[in-house]
Amino acid sequence: MLFSLTACGGKANNNSTSPVEDGEQQAQGSGADNAAQPSTPSSSSTSESDNSSSEQTQVPDDTATNAIVVYFSCTGNTKAVAEKIAELTGADMYEIVPETPYTDEDLNYRNDDCRANREMNDDSARPAIAGETIDLSGYHTVYLGYPIWWGTMPQIINTFLDTYDLSGKTILPFCTSGGSGISTSVSAIRTQEPDATVTDGLRASGASDEGIGQWLEGNGQ
Ligand SMILES: Cc1cc2nc3c(=O)[nH]c(=O)nc-3n(C[C@H](O)[C@H](O)[C@H](O)COP(=O)(O)O)c2cc1C
Repeated sequence: MLFSLTACGGKANNNSTSPVEDGEQQAQGSGADNAAQPSTPSSSSTSESDNSSSEQTQVPDDTATNAIVVYFSCTGNTKAVAEKIAELTGADMYEIVPETPYTDEDLNYRNDDCRANREMNDDSARPAIAGETIDLSGYHTVYLGYPIWWGTMPQIINTFLDTYDLSGKTILPFCTSGGSGISTSVSAIRTQEPDATVTDGLRASGASDEGIGQWLEGNGQ
């Protein structure tokens, strides 16, 4: 089944039933609720459901790596890909955690008035990110991951891009989705960060997607 996003221009206030394929399996669950701090891959959780406070996080030192995987994930799909990229590259990780976690109802895109849809219909929406800002100055490469919402990136990614000046850095966008591509969001990132190098993006079907390694290699990573 085709998505209705082209017709609705990526906005959520259309009368179409769903931005995703009927058959898509979406994991359920509320937004991540652990504090957002950069961490090395070795200290990040290997379990999607493990948000326990015992998870070790640490501010990266300036010698470990010059790459970081920054990601937002409500139901774990993008998180799994982010962890795979960190595993393959040795990059640090930073999870964009919303100050107000998304509940299942917030993500119920079939409801025109759900929080996610309201945000996607409001160009000025900038959902707050939990925790203190982090120092990205030591990083040259930023892998930036998110789910596709209504054909593009969630507004909280714009919060991130507004908060951090990524000029001079290389941004490698990646996403998961029910089938929509990543190109609209890549264009948006290029507009937001005109002085960064933004590579072609990757839509990954999951952590075992062979395209992840090919994409990294193709971008010289
Ligand atoms: C509000 C909302 C809008 C979505 N819009 C789309 C869309 O336009 N196209 C699509 O293919 N999938 C869409 N999806 C499905 C998600 O992109 C997909 O389930 C993604 O893998 C979720 O990632 P996560 O588990 O990291 O949060 C949408 C999901 C939500 C909650």
